[in-house]
Amino acid sequence: MKIFIDTGILDEIREAVSWGIVDGVTTNPSLVAKSGKPFRELLEEITRIVDGPISAEVVSTKADSMVREAEDLAKIHRNIVVKIPLIVEGLKAIKVLSAKGVKTNCTLCFSASQALLAAKAGATYISPFVGRLDDISTEGMQLIRDIRQIYVNYGIKTLILTASARSPMHFLEAAKIGSDVITAPFAVLKQLAHHPLTDLGLAKFLADWEKAKK
Ligand code: E4P
Repeated sequence: MKIFIDTGILDEIREAVSWGIVDGVTTNPSLVAKSGKPFRELLEEITRIVDGPISAEVVSTKADSMVREAEDLAKIHRNIVVKIPLIVEGLKAIKVLSAKGVKTNCTLCFSASQALLAAKAGATYISPFVGRLDDISTEGMQLIRDIRQIYVNYGIKTLILTASARSPMHFLEAAKIGSDVITAPFAVLKQLAHHPLTDLGLAKFLADWEKAKK
């Protein structure tokens, strides 16, 4: 499973990249606003840190303007993947962009039927938001299972990018289901790297080593 970091904070990206586990980055308008940096400048800086897919979202809601915005973003760097919301205008834009060879990440997916439509339109990635479904008392990970099953049924090549991941359990479940990618905030990546028994075990080894030296 590829791991993307879901943030617009450059220090978080640099740190996670230094661990050797980051395959790409996802941003969205809220994360860009939180970064406090101008959008293009932020994207350019990210392309200098990570050599992998970097999702950048359009803010237009009409297909024609989405396509124009997407082409403009795609010119920034070969690794830019344009995020398009899963609305009818978004599907139209994905169809056009896919024919032009622009990579897309169809975002804000909340049903498996939507995911099938996005794939038919030619999306490179589909981003089902598991955490936001959990927030409304619906099992987010079931959506990933359903999409996986449908994509396997029809040999669909669109990549499943589990998004809105909020916990290590989302990560584990996504990997068990066979999600192609997960995007997770830096805080979740940190949680994944730590285990209390690892910390206790290491402390004991080091203490025993000190005793043995005496
Ligand atoms: C995905 O690409 C989105 O940026 C993100 O995962 C949304 O997560 P949230 O629901 O925690 O805001």
